[in-house]
Amino acid sequence: DGDVYKYYADGEWKKSSSSKTVAIINPTTRKTQYKVQACTQEEVNKTMETAKTAQKSWAKTPLWKRAELLHKAAAILKEHKASIAECLVKEIAKPAKDAVTEVVRSGDLVSYCAEEGVRILGEGKFLVSDSFPGNERTKYCLTSKIPLGVILAIPPFNYPVNLAVSKIAPALIAGNSLVLKPPTQGAVAALHMVHCFHLAGFPKGLISCVTGKGSEIGDFLTMHPAINCISFTGGDTGISISKKAGMIPLQMELGGKDACIVLEDADLDLVAANIIKGGFSYSGQRCTAVKVVLVMESVADALVEKVKAKVAKLTVGPPENNCDITPVVSESSANFIEGLVMDAKQKGATFCQEYRREGNLIWPLLLDNVRPDMRIAWEEPFGPVLPVIRIGSVEEGIHHCNASNFGLQGCVFTKDINKAVLISDAMETGTVQINSAPARGPDHFPFQGFKDSGIGSQGVTNSINMMTKVKTTVINLP
Ligand code: G3H
Repeated sequence: DGDVYKYYADGEWKKSSSSKTVAIINPTTRKTQYKVQACTQEEVNKTMETAKTAQKSWAKTPLWKRAELLHKAAAILKEHKASIAECLVKEIAKPAKDAVTEVVRSGDLVSYCAEEGVRILGEGKFLVSDSFPGNERTKYCLTSKIPLGVILAIPPFNYPVNLAVSKIAPALIAGNSLVLKPPTQGAVAALHMVHCFHLAGFPKGLISCVTGKGSEIGDFLTMHPAINCISFTGGDTGISISKKAGMIPLQMELGGKDACIVLEDADLDLVAANIIKGGFSYSGQRCTAVKVVLVMESVADALVEKVKAKVAKLTVGPPENNCDITPVVSESSANFIEGLVMDAKQKGATFCQEYRREGNLIWPLLLDNVRPDMRIAWEEPFGPVLPVIRIGSVEEGIHHCNASNFGLQGCVFTKDINKAVLISDAMETGTVQINSAPARGPDHFPFQGFKDSGIGSQGVTNSINMMTKVKTTVINLP
């Protein structure tokens, strides 16, 4: 069937027996761009069986060989950057330049993972018994890290390639097999990416990609008895997954409401540049986007003017033209954003620009004088709308940040490094950036959310460790 992309299992491209498909709507044209298979539960079962079998021999494949294959996949991925980026443009309206960057970054991540894997998995520990009271030196303990088994990876629409490989590469280097459930928007880019792993020559069944509606196969996948670990990035769904999942390690990254605290001595040009980059890149559809500015009243007017001037320069339009602001991923997302904007309007926020929307395209909007009774003060729009709350003291800013259900990242702008460190310590978020907008990368840095922003820590090293378990052998001497 030329029109419908096949799913990937047991080393082959397959048509689902369901003869149902899932349409992928281009956010810009709002028309069906691609179609993918709607896999059945039976097909998921079969995929799990092959993943289990493949994992057994993969775990015995020498580490250096696993790394070699990952390096190969990384190179192929980079060679295919143009075609994969094209899918990202059509499926998720990512600006063309950023789409290419996502693929290149992904190739680099895969290579880095291979390198890091051979180092950290190539080392174990050796313990002797006589350090613990009452013991003679009669027990030698050897520890090593072994794979968990089958890992389920569920990336979100905003990085269908990068946040897939950030799960795939650590899983594979550590000797696991991997089943990928891509987001609907982004599924074709993900299938192209999986094709690169296919071309690299990984054993059959080691990596699979099942497509379909989350509502139909989502629970079935996440509660499947063959799954030994789930790595998920996305929204609230993660919370329900974690309630339903069995006794398996979970890695969850579930969004944020990253605060940008601006002190009186901050370099306001630097702040404005970072607010634009942090708040509006990919139209604010990043979990690490700046989602609320908490600025000291005395510098608020000056900062808002600077940001306003920069917002006016943002280009708005289709991703093919490399516009800064492109249509948000879906109509329901645009409606949700609009709901937040209307709520703020009704409650008296100052609109720095006129609110404008055409289809899924929402013009960038800065809302000043936002107060805590407005939804936008707490909820994440995942769109190009940024609230500014004026604060009378740093404590007020920290309090707002910590009153959030989220705790992903945050940032603080000041020239006083001592103050910055104290504020960082006080902010209940996984990461605090000093004098820069929040960001996950570089991809080997630890990345974690507190509270409703998730559990576990990602980043190359942490993900590899998380996808292994410790095994010990104790030699008992006479
Ligand atoms: O959307 C969530 C991503 O993990 C954010 O990644 O900071 O590289 O945009 P980023």
